[in-house]
Amino acid sequence: MLTDLRSILALAEEKGCAIPAFNCYTQECVMGVLEAAKETGAPVIFQMFSRLADTNDGNFVAPAILEAIRQLPQPAVMHLDHGAGIPEVVRAIRLGMTGVMIDASTLPLEENIATTKLAAELCGYVGVPVEGELGHVGAAKDEVLGNYTDVAEAERFVKETGVSALAVMVGTAHGRYKKAPVLDIQRIRDIREATGKLPLVLHGGSGIENDYILRGIKAGIAKINVGTELRQPYERAMREKNDVEYARECVYTRCRELIRDFLHTAGDAEILAK
Ligand code: 13P
Repeated sequence: MLTDLRSILALAEEKGCAIPAFNCYTQECVMGVLEAAKETGAPVIFQMFSRLADTNDGNFVAPAILEAIRQLPQPAVMHLDHGAGIPEVVRAIRLGMTGVMIDASTLPLEENIATTKLAAELCGYVGVPVEGELGHVGAAKDEVLGNYTDVAEAERFVKETGVSALAVMVGTAHGRYKKAPVLDIQRIRDIREATGKLPLVLHGGSGIENDYILRGIKAGIAKINVGTELRQPYERAMREKNDVEYARECVYTRCRELIRDFLHTAGDAEILAK
């Protein structure tokens, strides 16, 4: 059942869990996530990286995601991940996305606010909620972590932009960690309070210890992004067997485990059908 980002995050708030947001690159990936969502009954977010959404592949993956969502009785969202700019955001709406991220986090604060505000205004005309990013979530392969989200800036950012969710830098990074990340739980709590309990988004969700996931959710994380954890089994399967059905199976298996981690770890088994 297609819903929008704000509604699915409200569900996370109500249930005290985080909604897993899976980056999908191919139809096989979408189908693997679909099977895991069907089996668990979990609300899920299917998302596409801005770069992918902007290619012809994106034109094929988007309808596959919408078909997957049509097959699910539970709420699900198609979301743009790390929207690179206003043109990408507008194109995402055209593809039928019901959630959009604008990532202007590498720009100076004033420009990040201005760009994110414009995205939220445009998306507001068609009822698409927006996720912004403040602080910068970098890459796990880099030696230095990105800039942590500043609490006072977060308060201002949220007030001035009108975003429905905020991606925060609290110790995670994108990609495979060399060492398990340490989350700044107090910072999550503080940002959550300062922003009037806005749903917060944790990027770089691959390879975080379960205990941290639980504490992060309790502190205010309502959406957890996972890319690497599904891309790697998919690529490994294709390399080893060059068999799309096997690759889909591998995505499904890992995705099901992750769903159970994110929802069960929060102590909310009720949200799962099984
Ligand atoms: P990982 O690839 O590290 O799971 O990060 C995914 C992500 O945050 C996408 O925005």
